[in-house]
Amino acid sequence: MKAIILLGGPGAGKGTLAGLLQGKTGYIHISTGDMLRSAVQAGTPVGNEAKASMDKGELVSDAIILRIIDERIAEEPENSCFMFDGFPRTIEQAEGLDQLFKKYSGTLTHVFCLDVDQATLLKRLTGRRVCKSCGAVYHLQNKPPRKAGVCDIDGGELYQRADDSESTILNRLEVYKKQTAPLIAYYKKQGILCDIDAKGSPEETAALVLDVLNV
Ligand code: AP5
Repeated sequence: MKAIILLGGPGAGKGTLAGLLQGKTGYIHISTGDMLRSAVQAGTPVGNEAKASMDKGELVSDAIILRIIDERIAEEPENSCFMFDGFPRTIEQAEGLDQLFKKYSGTLTHVFCLDVDQATLLKRLTGRRVCKSCGAVYHLQNKPPRKAGVCDIDGGELYQRADDSESTILNRLEVYKKQTAPLIAYYKKQGILCDIDAKGSPEETAALVLDVLNV
């Protein structure tokens, strides 16, 4: 297997970027946030354990995350290319991922670190709306639906994620600084970190990444 990581604070645009890259690269998008939200909605044991941490904007335990990633990788053919979004989020998860690369004879080729200032992150998160049925992501100013509150794709109702309230966002930003930002140095040391200016449009950001990937 081969993999890249999309690293960045809450609202940096990891999910939006992954959607654009997936069509152009064929990399399989693995978002731990999406996996956990599905588990919460389905009421699985993982979802029930993760819910309280997610509601507060705290991280779910490394053991749970590494287990669901291992299971997800195992579902795909051996030579698959993965794009991790929102994972790893701690040094322990990064070390666990190193072990998974050994287990699956894999290579981590790039870690794209999305650079966005805090004021922009806040605006992106407070304005985000998500379709209840298909999960499509909108933004009240940057990507409004044609009809307010209604998904353009399937007419589903748009809602605001529970962790997109301003107080929870501020906690998520703190958690990112304390627990996830140390990964920047971890991957810099390995020589695979690529800083990406992610303040422009999603298409501009995707073009910068595709250029590095030579696609
Ligand atoms: P997760 O879902 O991973 O949340 P996050 O990292 O905080 O990231 P977001 O999904 O909020 O933002 P994003 O960067 O994908 O931005 P998006 O593209 O949507 O995790 C949620 C929770 O799950 C965590 O708090 C934790 O509890 C738990 N969890 C998940 N993974 C975990 C792990 N590995 N370990 C432990 N716990 C874990 O864009 C945001 C908005 O901005 C959208 O409205 C979009 O339209 C807009 N937008 C995007 N890009 C642009 C752009 N370039 N210009 C203008 N607008 C833009």
